[in-house]
Amino acid sequence: MKKIFIVGAGPGDPDLITVKGLHMLQTADVVMYTDSLVNEDLIAKAKPDAEVIRTAGMHLEEMVAVMVDRVNAGKVVARMHTGDPAMYGAIMEQVALLKKEGIGYEVIPGVSSVFAAAAAIGAELTIPDLTQTLILTRAEGRTPVPEFEKLRDLASHHCTIALFLSATLTKKIVKELQNAGWADDTPVAVIQRASWPDQKIVRTTLVELDEAMRVNGIRKHAMILAGWALDPNIHDKDEYRSKLYDATFTHGFRKGVKTSD
Ligand SMILES: C[S@@+](CC[C@H](N)C(=O)[O-])C[C@H]1O[C@@H](n2cnc3c(N)ncnc32)[C@H](O)[C@@H]1O
Repeated sequence: MKKIFIVGAGPGDPDLITVKGLHMLQTADVVMYTDSLVNEDLIAKAKPDAEVIRTAGMHLEEMVAVMVDRVNAGKVVARMHTGDPAMYGAIMEQVALLKKEGIGYEVIPGVSSVFAAAAAIGAELTIPDLTQTLILTRAEGRTPVPEFEKLRDLASHHCTIALFLSATLTKKIVKELQNAGWADDTPVAVIQRASWPDQKIVRTTLVELDEAMRVNGIRKHAMILAGWALDPNIHDKDEYRSKLYDATFTHGFRKGVKTSD
C-alpha cells in the first residue's frame, strides 16, 4: 500500500529529532510542515531538490490533496509535525482522508514539548513517594474536553499535570486545581518555546500563575507543568529517593546490601 510518513519534528531545537526522523527528512521528495511551529533550520536539512511546502495557510482538504497527488506520482512524502505527532497533532483527520484515497501512513515519533520543557528545567516528573503519574492534558477553552476529563477531576489525583494549549486559560486552571484541593503554593513551571533560542522559563506557584503569565507576556507556545515534582528545591529533600538505586533494594540486576537496624 502506498503511504506517507508522519514525522515528529521535535519541539524546536533542530537537533531534537530522532535519527530515523532526520533520515526521512533528508530523503523525502516532498516535505510538508507547519511553518509557524517547525524550525526552518531543521527543514533546511531536506535534500536540495526536495519540494518543500508550508502548510500553515492551507486547509485540511488542500493539504491532503497535495499529499495524494505527490504519493500517486511516486514521490516520498514526509509530513513534519511539531513535537510528537501523537499529542494534539490532528493527524487522524489527515489519515481518514488519505485512507479514502487508498493511502496509508507510518508515524516516526518525536520529542514532545512536554519532555523538552521538563528538560529545560532539569525536572523529573515522577518522583518516588511523591507522584508516579503524569497527566498530559489541556484546559478547556473553545475546544471542549470530554465530561470525564475535566481538569478538576484529573487534578484529584494530585500527580504531575502537563498542560498543552492552555496559556490563555490560566485563570481557569488555577480555579480547577484549587477546587481539587491543590494548595496555593503548589509549584508551577511555565516553559515557553522550550529548546528554541528564545526559550523562556517562569517558575511560580499555583496562586500566582495567572499574574506570572501576564507579567511575562506569555500567551502561546507554552507548556505548563504543575505539581510538587516541580518544586525547585526537590534535590534537597532526602525523602524522595528512588528505591531503584537504594543500596538495600534487590532487583533483577543487583543484590541489595544488608543493613543492620
Ligand atoms: C498543537 S500542540 C502540539 C504539541 C506537539 N505535538 C508536542 O508533542 O509537543 C501545540 C502546543 O504544544 C505546546 N508546545 C509545542 N512546542 C512547544 C515548545 N517548544 N515549548 C513549549 N510548549 C510547546 C504548547 O502548549 C502549544 O500550545
